[in-house]
Amino acid sequence: MCHSPTVTEGSASRRGLAAPFLEFSGVPSHGRVLDAGCGTGSLTFTLAAHPELAAIEALDFEENFVAALRGRTTDPRIRAQQGDVCALPYGNEEFDGVYFLLVLHFVTDPHRALREMRRVLRPGATAAAAVWDNCGGMPSWRLFWDTIRALEPEAADRGAIPAKRPLTGEGELCAAFENAGFTGVAATMLAIRMDYTNFDDFWHPMVYGQGAFGSFFDALPQTRRGRLQDAVKAAYLAGDGDGPRGFASVAWAVRGTA
Ligand SMILES: C[S@@+](CC[C@H](N)C(=O)[O-])C[C@H]1O[C@@H](n2cnc3c(N)ncnc32)[C@H](O)[C@@H]1O
Repeated sequence: MCHSPTVTEGSASRRGLAAPFLEFSGVPSHGRVLDAGCGTGSLTFTLAAHPELAAIEALDFEENFVAALRGRTTDPRIRAQQGDVCALPYGNEEFDGVYFLLVLHFVTDPHRALREMRRVLRPGATAAAAVWDNCGGMPSWRLFWDTIRALEPEAADRGAIPAKRPLTGEGELCAAFENAGFTGVAATMLAIRMDYTNFDDFWHPMVYGQGAFGSFFDALPQTRRGRLQDAVKAAYLAGDGDGPRGFASVAWAVRGTA
């Protein structure tokens, strides 16, 4: 069965990363910015809190995310559209800031996306990107995928570490910025806490959001799906009743000047 991500953010959405990411990246004092790979808009709306910005473009591959974002705002400065970060539908040097928050590790050719990012930026403007440190910085993913791999042999080559996503290793994002021609490249580690209200809040975005698990889960027979969900639930609960749990989550962030 073909799995397409639905709009499912849960209470532990990436909203928590947008503010520290912008604090590190900086926001221009005027002009037009691009939130590329905007999802349902966690960064777009954090950018919109800056009244000095004249226009905020939001772009995502998934039409349903774009539609959800549009439905959440009446701010005339925000314009959301479907598109590919590897072929940005904008002219050269149109933006005063471009941001890729938790996007590049999903993109088939992230180096091309970075070259596109540089192309649409005015000379001297800032680009910034962040990707999860999925080798050492995502204990919730380890909990999830280690449990699944223990039960399902077919999952051996899936999950956080075996299927290491592009640019998520230490220093990789920084090197990619330099290769794309950015100058003054600086990197940092951003840590947030992902808080979930209960197991459903943890499980639902994992299964129905963007990621490798949805299609894998959909393809399993019903009995194995139930067994898997019960095992992940036991790992999440860690011997206590259902309720809130929190996990530290670490992202690599890099900024550079076009
Ligand atoms: C983890 S979400 C991050 C969303 C948002 N930036 C945030 O931080 O909440 C990754 C987003 O990248 C989008 N995406 C992945 N590949 C893309 C591409 N080639 N072009 C545009 N968007 C893409 C996905 O559709 C998804 O919305």
